[in-house]
Amino acid sequence: MGRRNLEAEDIVRYEEDGPKVVLLDQRRLPDEEVELECRSVAEVVDAIRELAIRGAPAIGVAAAYALALAAARGEDLDEAVARLVASRPTAVNLVWALEQMRNDPSPANARALHQEEVGRCRAMAQHAAELFGQGTRALTHCNAGALATGGYGSAVGALHTAWERGLLERVWVDETRPLLQGSRLTAWELERAGIPHAVIADSAAASLMAAGEVDCVVTGADRIAANGDTANKIGTYSLAVLAAHHGIPLYVVAPTSTVDLATPSGAGIPIEERAASEITTSFAARNPAFDVTPADLIAAIVTEHGVHRAPYAQSLAALV
Ligand code: MRU
Repeated sequence: MGRRNLEAEDIVRYEEDGPKVVLLDQRRLPDEEVELECRSVAEVVDAIRELAIRGAPAIGVAAAYALALAAARGEDLDEAVARLVASRPTAVNLVWALEQMRNDPSPANARALHQEEVGRCRAMAQHAAELFGQGTRALTHCNAGALATGGYGSAVGALHTAWERGLLERVWVDETRPLLQGSRLTAWELERAGIPHAVIADSAAASLMAAGEVDCVVTGADRIAANGDTANKIGTYSLAVLAAHHGIPLYVVAPTSTVDLATPSGAGIPIEERAASEITTSFAARNPAFDVTPADLIAAIVTEHGVHRAPYAQSLAALV
């Protein structure tokens, strides 16, 4: 794959020959660019669980392709949907994508969904870039780039567009403990794009903010409740508290496939608990993979429709 642009189908695609779902194995990045072939729903479920593909919109797209695979193989579709939905509970995109596929579980429908999701990313990046002033030093958490959305990216897509407009000076990349989506994936993407960046330990964010070196925090989301409370990678909430303390805006950039109006507030968002062994194999550990940032700590939520401000119960309700 080398240095050429990462195309949507490099990240995840459906191949009739097999049939199979093929994805870039994100566990191996940045050291190796290796594809993983999934020939059954069970294999896609494993790939999602093990984070070979991750990021809310990207797992939605993978689930759509998995359902097309199930249909082509004559697998039980209800069972396939149940297994896919259960693979990771926090990102609502999984449920959303499978709902979109319900009446037409064809590869063509899955490909259209994938293409539209990338289109939404491009549209929201245009809106989000309006929030950037000249010389912005932005801090981002986890990976909300092309890898996480199946193309272009949400938060990192916004950074790309701001960079192209000459507004972005640099990006601080939280390494994102414990699985290092920031230092492995976001840094890899920014490097390929030629966007100046530096990886920081998650715990360095506070002192950089205090030193006046951060102008805004930009993240993606896994699920946005009707009132604007937002679940995203563990550590986002602490960043939001820090940003509020320092008077720095935190922007959430996410497509409407991530907005869950059926869940009134963050209290109703299921938070995935992952294996303790991802933290330590020596001692007992707790490993919540996500946290919820209360809406009042979010300066704006950007979707493909534009920039939404508080009260989010009103500005988001208008989306559907
Ligand atoms: O556990 P991950 O890597 O799937 O978590 C991903 C995130 O938290 C992303 O920030 C989120 O999905 C938004 S991606 C556009």
